Amino acid sequence: MAYPYEAYADLRENTPVTYFEPTDQWLIARYEDVNALLRDRRLGRTYLHVATHQEFGREPDPEYLAPFWHVIRNGMLDMEPPDHTRLRRLVAKAFTPRMVESLRPRVQKIAEELVAGLLAAGGGDLIEAVAEPLPVTVIAELLGVPEPDRHLLRPWSADICGMYELNPTREAGEKAVRACQEFSAYLRDLSRERRANPRDDLISALAQVVDSGDRLTEDELIGTCVLLLNAGHEATVNVTGNGWWALFRNPDQLAKLRGDLSLLPGAIEELMRYDTPLQMFERWVLEDIEVRGVRIPRGSEVALLFGSANHDPAVFADPDRLDVTRQDNPHISFGAGIHYCLGAPLARIELQCSFGTLLRKAPDLRLVREPEWKPGYIIRGLKELVVEV
Ligand code: HEM
Repeated sequence: MAYPYEAYADLRENTPVTYFEPTDQWLIARYEDVNALLRDRRLGRTYLHVATHQEFGREPDPEYLAPFWHVIRNGMLDMEPPDHTRLRRLVAKAFTPRMVESLRPRVQKIAEELVAGLLAAGGGDLIEAVAEPLPVTVIAELLGVPEPDRHLLRPWSADICGMYELNPTREAGEKAVRACQEFSAYLRDLSRERRANPRDDLISALAQVVDSGDRLTEDELIGTCVLLLNAGHEATVNVTGNGWWALFRNPDQLAKLRGDLSLLPGAIEELMRYDTPLQMFERWVLEDIEVRGVRIPRGSEVALLFGSANHDPAVFADPDRLDVTRQDNPHISFGAGIHYCLGAPLARIELQCSFGTLLRKAPDLRLVREPEWKPGYIIRGLKELVVEV
């Protein structure tokens, strides 16, 4: 969708909590409500820890999707406590702000190499040349996926992410299943190899605790690695593309940023708010709730509109304006509550390195033609962003 933010303004104003028949969901449009529901333990990313599909009045998963759901439900994002707490605690050790900060020099070096390639070519597709390879390389190195195998990751991840769109087709489902099967088989082999011959990487660290007491099963290790590889790059790619496109459309803001690079950390937050990379997250209602006087019964699904929350004038002054000097910016792009993005500190470093390097090394970076959006609504990103230097 080219620009969903006008439709959101109408929802926020007139129907901030409304049932939407086509997707059988309750749309939640205001920042205050999205933020509160993300933290509300009466909602969950899943309901399967408290009820069966049948008890929840839902169809069971189609048989052919079983391999997909098996992988996804073994990742912490689709778990609720106590399993979520156990897995998140294990993985969080690798993502403390201090550990992640120690990766900055390496991330910076990767950014410099990629930007040098773009400059040497006189320009090209910024997404293919910088936005994509940077986070893929970083997360693959962190996990310990060998360099010759890394080209496999993007296609697997793209096929799995196809299932996160609204009403995915049978074809999308089959692609996701195939990707999950191949990806799992690959990670099973790799983790067994690393368990026998550990190296200094996250797969080796996780493989050491597989089946030690009740800490981590092999399926959970695979689910965790798939989640980290997918979550660990998809949104970062899109923030880079959407962010540059926003800067090109707002040349005064780009000039301001080029003139004072100390604005960069705040500018990154503003780009994440201004064009939100993940437009919506869903939650199941585990007990009846009431939002702004509207009763939403147990068994319903709510759609939390992040893009709308990030443009709510009750929280952000002049929300449809890009302002790289914006001070008060509690954007919700990394979520909130127990599933708050585990990779946020890493994503920030990646974005600061890639934007910073491009701003410094390519001070005359220009757009060649207006980009097109990828199909889909939830994951918001550009097909390509062709630039010249
Ligand atoms: C700009 C880039 C990113 C954005 C916008 C983003 C956004 C998000 C959001 C909104 C959630 C919560 C979803 C929900 O509540 O339903 C989340 C969860 C998560 N993200 Fe990120 N993310 C980004 C980058 C990363 C990176 C680089 C990593 C890993 C290296 C990562 C790993 C995760 C993980 C593991 C979770 C699940 C946490 C849990 O369930 O406790 N993300 N992310």
